[in-house]
Amino acid sequence: MQIAIDGPAGAGKSTIAKRLAKESGYIYVDTGAMYRAMALYLLRRGISAEDKAGIESACEDADISIKYIDGEQNVILNGENVNGLIRTQEVSNMASASSVNGKVRQKLVSLQQKLAESTDVVMDGRDIGTTVLPDAEVKIYLTASVKVRAKRRYDELIAKGEESDLKVIEQEIRERDERDMTREISPLKKADDAIEVDTSDMGIEEVVNAINGIIKEHGR
Ligand code: DC
Repeated sequence: MQIAIDGPAGAGKSTIAKRLAKESGYIYVDTGAMYRAMALYLLRRGISAEDKAGIESACEDADISIKYIDGEQNVILNGENVNGLIRTQEVSNMASASSVNGKVRQKLVSLQQKLAESTDVVMDGRDIGTTVLPDAEVKIYLTASVKVRAKRRYDELIAKGEESDLKVIEQEIRERDERDMTREISPLKKADDAIEVDTSDMGIEEVVNAINGIIKEHGR
């Protein structure tokens, strides 16, 4: 069984996918974390998002793998657990910018497909229903308005005690949407057979219930 959840930044994909995985006993695969690990590697090496050759050679040197610790996905970059380092705005923006590269995508898509070969998964990202798992039994396109997504991210940062500017976050989300949706290879878009869920006016429980309903109807 494969459940694919795609959608723009801040739509609530990871929160919802984690809950669904816990309830069903499936493995949760956060594909964004892999693009983030790659972005961290590039930032550390001072390779810019425009340096195509640099990024392509980095693809050869950066070994990215996944390890589950207490049921939680951890990303390992050349032997180092980088889970605690990939959630900054700098890494978010670099992940969005570097994920347009075909070699980066090829490398990570193949890792994602291998993970889903031998186990039931709930996988979230941008191209899961369209490219990574085109035969997934259930495909959800989770979305929400830019304003709502920016406010969620802002509240998250404030709760963590970090300084934050709602206007800047909103602008960054707009830019990431634009890049993720207009890139040449596997842009973010709703798969033809995906069901769209707009979470702008929904709480977490409501979204989980709605998706569980969809799984019952369309799942195996
Ligand atoms: O889901 P996220 O915010 O952690 O993803 C970070 C970036 O990685 C996102 O802006 C685009 C890229 N990404 C992608 O291109 N394809 C995926 N399947 C997941 C993420």
